[in-house]
Amino acid sequence: MEQQIVEIDIRSWQPQAADPAWIAALEAGKVLYFPRLAFELKDSEKRFLTPEARDPKSRNISLDAKGRLKGAAGDEAAQRDMAAMVGRFRAQAKSLIDAILPRYGDALRLAPTSYRPMQVESRAQSWRADDKRMHVDAFPSRPNYGERILRVFTNVNPQGTPRIWRVGEPFEKVASQFLPRVKPYVRWQAKALKALHVTKSLRSEYDHLMLQLHDGMKSDMEYQRRAEQVTMPFPPGSVWICFSDQTSHAVMSGQYMMEQTLHLPVDKQYDPKASPLAILTRLTGRALI
Ligand code: SIN
Ligand code: FE
Repeated sequence: MEQQIVEIDIRSWQPQAADPAWIAALEAGKVLYFPRLAFELKDSEKRFLTPEARDPKSRNISLDAKGRLKGAAGDEAAQRDMAAMVGRFRAQAKSLIDAILPRYGDALRLAPTSYRPMQVESRAQSWRADDKRMHVDAFPSRPNYGERILRVFTNVNPQGTPRIWRVGEPFEKVASQFLPRVKPYVRWQAKALKALHVTKSLRSEYDHLMLQLHDGMKSDMEYQRRAEQVTMPFPPGSVWICFSDQTSHAVMSGQYMMEQTLHLPVDKQYDPKASPLAILTRLTGRALI
């Protein structure tokens, strides 16, 4: 299999370098990996390196686009310091993306920034929610009509523990294996889901197919074992970026990660033909949105 991870020796969140080869690799579904780019915690922030930083009633700690912090434990001062830490990661992630992907610019829409202090391997989940199984990201309640999901990750583990991912085969290869087995799109069902507020807007055929790929991959243990894949330990002090709606990925272990999601309209990519929407449209031979 062609190399799915591209290593880049940048050490600054505002690099002076943008390389067309990195852009093409990212838009082809590869992971851009920055082994020497660290998100530095201040001494006062090291107290957040515990699972107790999270409110047990919440799944995650996140800072929404309006700057509101959700899911954090602790008093007002702790919440303020946590918001500053997560907000600083947001600003650095955004400046990195702006530097290496200058054309995306204002077309990017910021989603919440999250801090995940929980240990991956001790989490018990249903197969559908289990990110230890390789998948492409697709969200059941939020149809996106082909809009891209770009994610910036960093490992902030203080004990040297890597965040271990598996990265699978290219999107087109995944899609051509699972498309023959997907359930057909049924428009009245999509309308019913919207009427029942299961989805926030009408689920398009594109969104249906993406969910079918997500579920098809995760529910097939034979596929999980036999599909071409690489195991990749991302050490503390590193950053990695991918289009998670395109890159087949799974997280096997690790603790203490920060993540920024950004959305991008397909037509603002350098090469819209590389997108999952274009690939699925070509493979099915019909309009999907
Ligand atoms: C995922 O997006 O599947 C999870 C990634 C992670 O927690 O490292
Ligand atoms: Fe995922």
